[in-house]
This record gives sequence, C-alpha cells and structure tokens, in this order.
Amino acid sequence: EAIAYKEKTWNKVDIDPKNILVTNGVSEGINTLYAALVNEGDEVLIPDPSYPLYINFADFYDARKVFYRTIEEEGWIPDIDDMRKKITEKTRFIVVNNPHNPTGAVYPKKVLQDILDLAAEYKLPVVSDEIYDAMVFNTEFHSVASLAKSDNLVIGMNGFSKTYLATGWRLGYIYLKGPEEEISNMRTAFLGFLMTRLSAVTPLQVAVARAVYKTGSHLKELVSKLDERRRYSAKRLREIPGFSLPVEPKGAFYVFPRVDLKMNDEEFARQLLLDEKVFVVYGSGFGPLGTNHVRLVFLPPVDVLEEAFTRIERFMRKISS
Ligand SMILES: Cc1ncc(COP(=O)(O)O)c(C=O)c1O
Repeated sequence: EAIAYKEKTWNKVDIDPKNILVTNGVSEGINTLYAALVNEGDEVLIPDPSYPLYINFADFYDARKVFYRTIEEEGWIPDIDDMRKKITEKTRFIVVNNPHNPTGAVYPKKVLQDILDLAAEYKLPVVSDEIYDAMVFNTEFHSVASLAKSDNLVIGMNGFSKTYLATGWRLGYIYLKGPEEEISNMRTAFLGFLMTRLSAVTPLQVAVARAVYKTGSHLKELVSKLDERRRYSAKRLREIPGFSLPVEPKGAFYVFPRVDLKMNDEEFARQLLLDEKVFVVYGSGFGPLGTNHVRLVFLPPVDVLEEAFTRIERFMRKISS
C-alpha cells in the first residue's frame, strides 16, 4: 500500500496493491522478469547502451539480447523505427529505462507514447525501469504506466536504492498495469519465482513503508546538490580535449561522454585507474553503442569531482602527447 501511495503521489500511476511485488532490489526484479517470461532462444529488446543486468540475465537464461538504437546527438533518445525493425515473433518484451543508466537521458512524453503504441500494436509488454524517477534536472519525468492505454501491459520496475540513497537495503518492487487477465497470469508467473525466496526483508519493508508517507522531503535538497555536480561535470568534460558531450545528461547521476581514444575504452578505464586512481566504467560493457565512451558518476561533492577531473585532464594530456 505504501508503494501504491508512492507511485500515485510521485508518478501519477494508479496501481492496485495486489499487483505490486516487493523484491530484494530491482536486481531481483530483473531476475524475476527473465525467470518468469523468457525461455531459451526468446528475444528481449533492450536499449543500446543498456544497464548491464538486462544483458547479463539474457545471457544467463539463454535468451537473445536484441539492442535497439538510441541516438546520442538527440540526448540518447530511442530510435522508434529501429525498435520496430527489431521486433520478431520471438520478442517477449521491450525494456525502457528512464531516466537512463548509463547516459542520464530522460525521455520526452511523445517518445514514451510512441513506444507504448508500438508495444500495443505487437501485443508486447513494456518493461519500464524507473529507479531514478525523481532524479531529473530542469525537465519533466513521465512514468510509462501513467501514459499507458487500456491495451498496454506495463511491467514497472522501481526501488529505494537511488532516490532514498539506500542501495544496501536491497528493496525494490515490480508492479503490473494492464488488462486484468494478462496481469493475473503474469503475477502468478512472477510469484512462482519469488515464492522460492519467501519474502523481501521484512524489517526494511516496515521502515521504508513509513518513510514513503513522509513523501520526498529529502528530494529537493538531493536534486539541487546533484544538479550542481551535473553542471560542473558537464562543463569540465567539455573543456578537456579528447572528450565530447553533445547533450548534457538530464537525469540520474551519470554522464556518458565520447572519448577520442588511442586505446580502447576498456584499456582507457584500466589505465586511468592505475595511473591516476580515478575509476570510470568503460562504455562498451553497456552495449555496442557504448564503445568509445566512458561512464562517470557525479554523486561526489564538487571538490572531489574537481580533483578527479584534474587527474583525468592530466591523464588525457599524457596519452595524447
Ligand atoms: C537502471 C537500473 N536498474 C536497476 C538497478 C539496480 O538497483 P537495485 O539496487 O534496486 O538492485 C540499477 C543500479 O545501478 C540501475 O541503474
């Protein structure tokens, strides 16, 4: 009930509490999704680049991961034509992650509506991972479920790791919205997997349920601090020769610049860590379009970011000389 309250007040999504399944983090939610809906050889449509768990679980369950293109120059927005081309009889669902990890993209309403229309046309569920829902900067966030029509089936994924800065608590949830018959079949399939671990941790569920009713009092400060760190990071990246950032991130706490490299992105990240003790994640690990990019996290305070960028700048000078 607390989660239904949160979704209603934060995201304008009406969900019946019986259609909410509490998980040990969204990570377990993603595992549940694949365990319940995917058989060997099935296809899942995921963004390129993508949060890696959507890739890893496809591999684990012997599904075929099919990447749809997102367009860097437009702020890493999904290419709907490409998405359409990649749907086959074996497609089981379309994954949307908004705000997006690793790019920080926040999708406009029209793009989400187009995805929902496409999904309805092919009778496919839309999986919408909205774990960064309240972390948006000078832009509006739209939950996919809030835009869904009566013939859409939406599988929402969300949790408390990011907006409550409670990563270690391992609490997340899946919710289902759509035609009753399809929802109840899916709920049974999901519960078939979730019952094997009995429940998500009960004391934490009680604590989070209380926190949710004091809704969002911490968010304003959090978003304003992150916004300063986001703007600072984008500015520094644009000043350092070798990086390019066509569009600033609009959500989450990641920035995903292109790097003109003499070495591949994995080697770049490794060498930067060894030489300057600065950790970035190499882009090709997020999918083919992540190649020649790196993901930086702008959670630390500006003075820490300043030191990190100074070291990165020194490293870039060294490798380009
Ligand atoms: C898009 C996305 N989904 C899910 C997760 C995992 O979240 P949780 O801590 O709830 O398992 C992350 C964590 O980085 C993420 O970025």
